[in-house]
Amino acid sequence: MSDTTTDPIYVTESLIAEDIDAYLDQHQHKTMLRFITCGSVDDGKSTLIGRLLYDSKMIFEDQLDALTADSKKVGTQGQEIDFALLVDGLAAEREQGITIDVAYRFFNTEKRKFIVADTPGHEQYTRNMVTGASTADLAVILIDARKGVLVQTRRHSYLAHLIGIKNLVLAVNKMDLVDYSQEVFDSIVADYAAFAKSIGIEHFVPMPISGFKGDNIIGPSENTPWYTGPNLIEHLESVEVNSAIDAAKPFRMPVQWVNRPNLDFRGFSGLIATGSVKPGDAIRVLPSGKTSTVSRVVTMSGDLDEAQAGQSVTICFADEVDCSRGDVIAIADNPPETADQFETTLVWMADERLHVGRAYWLKLGTQMVSATVHAPKYTINVNTMEHMAAKTLDLNAIGVAEIVTDKPIVFEAYADNRTLGGFILIDKMTNGTVAAGMLHFSLRRSQNVHWQALDISREAHAVLKNQKPAVLWFTGLSGSGKSTIANLVEKKLHRMNRHTFLLDGDNVRHGLNKDLGFTEEDRIENIRRVGEVAKLMTDAGLIVITAFISPFRADREMVRSMLPEAEFIEVFIDTPLAVAEERDVKGLYKKARSGELKNFTGIDSPYEAPTKPEIRVDTTAMTAEEAATLIVDTLLGDA
Ligand code: ADX
Repeated sequence: MSDTTTDPIYVTESLIAEDIDAYLDQHQHKTMLRFITCGSVDDGKSTLIGRLLYDSKMIFEDQLDALTADSKKVGTQGQEIDFALLVDGLAAEREQGITIDVAYRFFNTEKRKFIVADTPGHEQYTRNMVTGASTADLAVILIDARKGVLVQTRRHSYLAHLIGIKNLVLAVNKMDLVDYSQEVFDSIVADYAAFAKSIGIEHFVPMPISGFKGDNIIGPSENTPWYTGPNLIEHLESVEVNSAIDAAKPFRMPVQWVNRPNLDFRGFSGLIATGSVKPGDAIRVLPSGKTSTVSRVVTMSGDLDEAQAGQSVTICFADEVDCSRGDVIAIADNPPETADQFETTLVWMADERLHVGRAYWLKLGTQMVSATVHAPKYTINVNTMEHMAAKTLDLNAIGVAEIVTDKPIVFEAYADNRTLGGFILIDKMTNGTVAAGMLHFSLRRSQNVHWQALDISREAHAVLKNQKPAVLWFTGLSGSGKSTIANLVEKKLHRMNRHTFLLDGDNVRHGLNKDLGFTEEDRIENIRRVGEVAKLMTDAGLIVITAFISPFRADREMVRSMLPEAEFIEVFIDTPLAVAEERDVKGLYKKARSGELKNFTGIDSPYEAPTKPEIRVDTTAMTAEEAATLIVDTLLGDA
């Protein structure tokens, strides 16, 4: 069994014990390269990763855990390790984890530390690959020399390029199985070059390798005398990492939090996205545009003369300038833009498809805003690169669509800055991430449509009518009694000299919304328009009563967020489906049950009941008259 003197952990420990400074020094000065390996099913990915771990002669603790008991024979020089066993272990582990996530492995050489994300290859794992690729400096695209450029090769290259990976290695693997033929290699490289050019990849490094035999992995291979380029490890050790590239760009730091331990200290903490910063630098806080000068750059281990991309710091200003979480601190004379409309590429990552018009959270760096997505301009077939018309995005779909945010955000094009150009969309109800996105550019159209300042304010309208405007938002199944009760409520208020207006689903759908049907998208748009109209009517000082099924929680919440607090009163007309169906005033449930009417709420389209409505009316326990009294009393504060 294992001899402690050759056990890597033991060796590492003894190095730490003998010369802690040397150990730390050795590690601190190493840069870290993150890369992904991608390719199709049998291209030998596990073998290549095994080979890298084996040849780099340093296996970290993480790997030891992953290996079987026998492979404890691992030696620092790697000679004793059973290569086949190592690869089997990796492959088995990968298969178990394949559906869950991306497997990350760590190894290091004398020059660098590495993290490799092993991403699954099938199309249904596009989202996993995007996750693994989002932080990568480099991608190794594996090709089986016997098979050449495949659909998967194209898909992975496209995704790697989309996600902004500038260093691509085309590893033509299994060269041993084609007798190390230069002709085969050259023809694959030519094929790939033509494809790469067509999608905008400017540069890639082709390499003839054999993960199994070890050719051109750690040194030049005798089997490929015709190849004069770098071997894989040598290349991985020398390419420029993103953090070095980012450091040369203009300074930007998204503020994570305001650090104010006492009255004497006020600093803004975050991770520097690009550029560098030092005391004396003129900076600008965005979106406000206020300027100041950096007085200190503070870290846990003291003040710094200068800090750069990739470092977490706290910045102090020479003046009291407003700055809070979500703001971006930038170099004063070259700041990023702010905007609220963008063209983006989205990778849809949720089982539930994109709902055009629905409000999602958009998280970009430390900024979080509400955003809606327009109908996609097109989706991209990742196998053929064709653009296709689409109304929505399904799981793993990639599409180009415009996004509108409810307030301006600070951004840069993704191609220039991954931190300020990359974002995720979050479902407001489940809090799950539904998409990863890349901002391309802002759309200026809204900048030319200005708000007209109105002399007669909403307050002035309300004062003249001697009332507080509000929206009584009824929601409930078809046939639950919304219209009946809403009518009674309006009559009561009218009699009390209140200025009201009733918007009813069946009526509005004959006019303003006659172009809309009952798909999820159409219902979202129905509610959005009614919300906007109701808002205008409250601006005019009215008490608005709306009677729409409004089946989706997210859309009711969207309307709520459009109005001043306390002006949105959600009234849940709670009638069990069985009761509404039994009544079937319009005969629609019968039609829905027979299949004559599709997408009927409660039957083959969902109804999401409010969890905390301001008013709940149980129609099985109350008459319509009693319900109307309850609602009016609650509205006027007499309940
Ligand atoms: S909502 O879902 O978009 O809020 P809305 O309240 O405007 O619906 O319209 C609902 C009314 O349209 C129902 O009361 C019913 O009379 C009619 N209707 C016709 N088809 C459907 C359907 N598939 N689902 C629900 N209601 C329908």
